[in-house]
Amino acid sequence: MENPDLTLELSSEAMQQLVAQAVERIIPHVASLPQQPSADAEGALEMARMLKEPLPQQGQPAAELLDLLFTHVIPKSFNTAGPGYLAYIPGGGIFHSAVADLVTDAVNRYMGLWLAAPGLAQLEANVIRWFCEIVGFPATANGLLTTGGSLANFSAVVTARRERLPEQFLSGMLYASDQTHHSVKKAALLAGFPEGNVRVIPTDDRCRIRVDALAQAITADRAAGCSPFLIVGNAGSTNTGAVDDLAALADLAQREDCWFHVDAAYGGFFLLTAQGKTLMRGLERADSVTLDPHKGLFLPYGTGSLLMRDGGALKRAHGVGASYLPSTDDDPDLMDFSQMSPELSRGFRGLRVWLPLKMHGIGPFQRNLEEKLALTQWATEELRKMLGIEIVAEPQLSIVAFRLVRSGMSPEALDQLNRDVLRRINARKRVYLSGTMLRQQFVIRICVLSFRTHLDRMQLAIEDIREAIAAIAR
Ligand SMILES: Cc1ncc(COP(=O)(O)O)c(C=O)c1O
Repeated sequence: MENPDLTLELSSEAMQQLVAQAVERIIPHVASLPQQPSADAEGALEMARMLKEPLPQQGQPAAELLDLLFTHVIPKSFNTAGPGYLAYIPGGGIFHSAVADLVTDAVNRYMGLWLAAPGLAQLEANVIRWFCEIVGFPATANGLLTTGGSLANFSAVVTARRERLPEQFLSGMLYASDQTHHSVKKAALLAGFPEGNVRVIPTDDRCRIRVDALAQAITADRAAGCSPFLIVGNAGSTNTGAVDDLAALADLAQREDCWFHVDAAYGGFFLLTAQGKTLMRGLERADSVTLDPHKGLFLPYGTGSLLMRDGGALKRAHGVGASYLPSTDDDPDLMDFSQMSPELSRGFRGLRVWLPLKMHGIGPFQRNLEEKLALTQWATEELRKMLGIEIVAEPQLSIVAFRLVRSGMSPEALDQLNRDVLRRINARKRVYLSGTMLRQQFVIRICVLSFRTHLDRMQLAIEDIREAIAAIAR
């Protein structure tokens, strides 16, 4: 009790020094992103193993630790923040959100219950309201910020189960396409459904769910005594950015009395563009929508969102009281986030979205998304000019999938050839692309989503693809 250890209570000067030491390294790192390799994984595993160590008994100066991070640890990775990262779904990571996180963590307010920090909770509620406006939901809609799209899809499945099925729910059937993100299947399994209850519906030549096949599957399942309850539509699939016919899915869901969830984790913010609005017509009729700010709003990883047409549904599915908690308020304006999700204590995710949107308005986000659509179209036209390249999936949003074709080659040899092309493109370290399997064929994909990616980087991408193909021919 006497002489308590005050080491963890930093003085004002110590706080200032620690932040200054971090900023001294962060700013040059971020400023030099375009010059850094697009990925540097050589020796990364060995480096990771060398980091193993027992629980530290002694302290070490912050400067040394930060140097270890910035000199050895951070560079040995995919450069997911750089302009050359065109793989999977790029995040980007606007700096404003990093500063918001520092504020959030420094003030460390409790965000599970509205009354613990009403002003901050209102800022998060504002963000949700703005997202509801973007998707065209009514004023009665509601939602919350999650850690990402997977958790949003999970809570969507749990909510649909609660709203549409009895407590004994094992006859409930879910429907998604063969292009739906695997987090939907994972969500169904975590929500207690057997794997066989997830019906995988085939897609058309543009990777969109075949609504006729879906309708047939629902009819057959009903006839077999099952209970169809959830249809999942894609607004931007991970493989190719495919957008399902959402209006047709909304009609079918209505006819069949199914919950209609749209996974717009990747594609949803393209609603801010004219092209996206046209393509995603019908999304506003969904019961729930997953929308990821750490994709289409360029935030650092760690923020997804789930929006619900019926504002009370999340609470009905997730709300559980406890004697040691204050009773929650029924006023729909006072949202207790812990009653709307699996989490109790949670970080304050609102500020990392609120700060950049308030600082700049939606304009720069909108213009960046329009630019990404145009860059993808530009890259597609350049690819089309290359001899032997087949565009396997024309861009619907900001993803194009292509492959090299050679007559007389076996499917296995062609796949291997394309894997080799991909390896050569990435080896130049100016861009980083990823591949996927589409209709049993290996294809290379370009996904343009970073706010740091502009025409100059796309020109490098095209140069490197051309060079990789030429090298194969030599
Ligand atoms: C369409 C789609 N849905 C869901 C997810 C899962 O999102 P998260 O990685 O944020 O959990 C992804 C991730 O890429 C995605 O592309």
